[in-house]
Amino acid sequence: MTTYAAPGGRAASIPLLGREVEPTLFEMSVPGRRAFQLRTTGLPETSIADLIPDLHLNPSVVEIAEVSERDLVAHFTRLSHRQFSVDLGMYPLGSCTMKYNPKFCDAVAAMTGLNGVHPAAPASLTQGWIELLWTLEQRLVAITGMAGATLQPAAGAAGELTGLLLIRAYHEARGEKRTRILIPDSAHGTNPASVTLGGYEVTTIPSNERGLVDSDVLKASLGPDVAGIMLTNPNTAGLFEEEIQDIAKAVHESGGLLYYDGANLNAIVGVMRPGDMGFDVVHMNLHKTFATPHGGGGPGAGPVAVSERLVPYLPGPRPVKNDDGSFDWASQTTSIGRVHGWNGNALVLARALAYITVHGSDGLRRVAQHAVLNANWLRVRLAAVLPAAYDRVCMHECTLSAATMKAKYGVRGLDVAKGLLEEGFHSPTVYFPLIVEEALMFEPTETESLQTLEALALAVERVAKRAESDPESLHAAPRTTPVSRVDEARAARTLKATADAV
Ligand SMILES: Cc1ncc(COP(=O)(O)O)c(C=O)c1O
Repeated sequence: MTTYAAPGGRAASIPLLGREVEPTLFEMSVPGRRAFQLRTTGLPETSIADLIPDLHLNPSVVEIAEVSERDLVAHFTRLSHRQFSVDLGMYPLGSCTMKYNPKFCDAVAAMTGLNGVHPAAPASLTQGWIELLWTLEQRLVAITGMAGATLQPAAGAAGELTGLLLIRAYHEARGEKRTRILIPDSAHGTNPASVTLGGYEVTTIPSNERGLVDSDVLKASLGPDVAGIMLTNPNTAGLFEEEIQDIAKAVHESGGLLYYDGANLNAIVGVMRPGDMGFDVVHMNLHKTFATPHGGGGPGAGPVAVSERLVPYLPGPRPVKNDDGSFDWASQTTSIGRVHGWNGNALVLARALAYITVHGSDGLRRVAQHAVLNANWLRVRLAAVLPAAYDRVCMHECTLSAATMKAKYGVRGLDVAKGLLEEGFHSPTVYFPLIVEEALMFEPTETESLQTLEALALAVERVAKRAESDPESLHAAPRTTPVSRVDEARAARTLKATADAV
């Protein structure tokens, strides 16, 4: 194995029992080998086939990897040691809010009283669960300044689609046919995708030189065919949209509604509420602000809270509290229907309620304050090597630019990000927002200490020195991680189907 002394002096390569490449389970497969199987049914093996009608039996043999439990555990343990995770180190991925997830939330989700319950169990047997969900709904409504909420959407983008369907239901109930949604050019990619999926057309509003939505263009774009506007505040450049109340007034006067992409709620939680800014719909990424784990595309949770006028259309059934203090499920006839097979990703919801309860309103306010303080500390600390794209106070994330570094030494934002991997830090978000040249977006979150922030700043400075003295080494970075520089376009274009290995 080639080892490379990282500039930071950190131990770099992980010896994987002499293996450079971990074999796949199919490559490890030996016919007849299997992991321990626990028989719980008590039925003799032959009778299982008798119980299932032929119609439902697959006549062909399904090829699966045959490995022992020992090899299986070793395989996944080795793989887990090759990962970078939020439990391992700082993960300043802008827009993603990769904050540390406290372990007490895991303890709550591990309670058998919660995770041993089938979602189809009747309300009479699941009073505790329904109370939990009802309480969470109340808390989210209070935090966002809205009138009602649904907990069903499985992630942020699912929340966006739900919100757009609610906006559509509202306009249709009023007999209005509106076809367009306005979105600033700094928006997260899921916003225009959700708009299209929701059956609307996107009208893009440019940002001005201060990184804020151009409110003159926005107002000029309003009309009787505009169903609403999707904004996030702070926006995806990490900047606060100062004219939000003025914008809300103009949108409402033209008959449109305002959607708040609450993925950035970490910046304002406990300090300010989207409802007070004039928004009608907000989705929250519980897997960001409320410290439940992110996992490759899920499971997350993207509850949607709405203003009074949209409550009748919320997905159902929703948890309700009866006059006698008991809990139940209720649906409204005007509801847009279900957006999830069950009640949402329930254990993620339980984690979020635990987090909110333990913090209380003062604790949540401190979350936002420290997140904003940390981002601004980093912005100022790094100004000499990576200047901010917009020279002003930011919110919970700072958008820096490697444009000068590129012009001087030919080192791009991507090279800086890869160089940071060699330093033991996860990369910041690169090339987002799209409107900033060589963007590097750092979101330290409130969970990182001053010492860790300083360590990151020193690491960025070392990378900047290498850009000047040895730019080629950064073009080749990372050289110390289990996987070195990959051809990112090829990975997406030339898919390696698992079936090939069978
Ligand atoms: C601003 C913003 N909006 C929406 C989303 C989509 O959330 P999800 O990934 O949970 O679908 C994200 C995710 O990173 C985001 O940062």
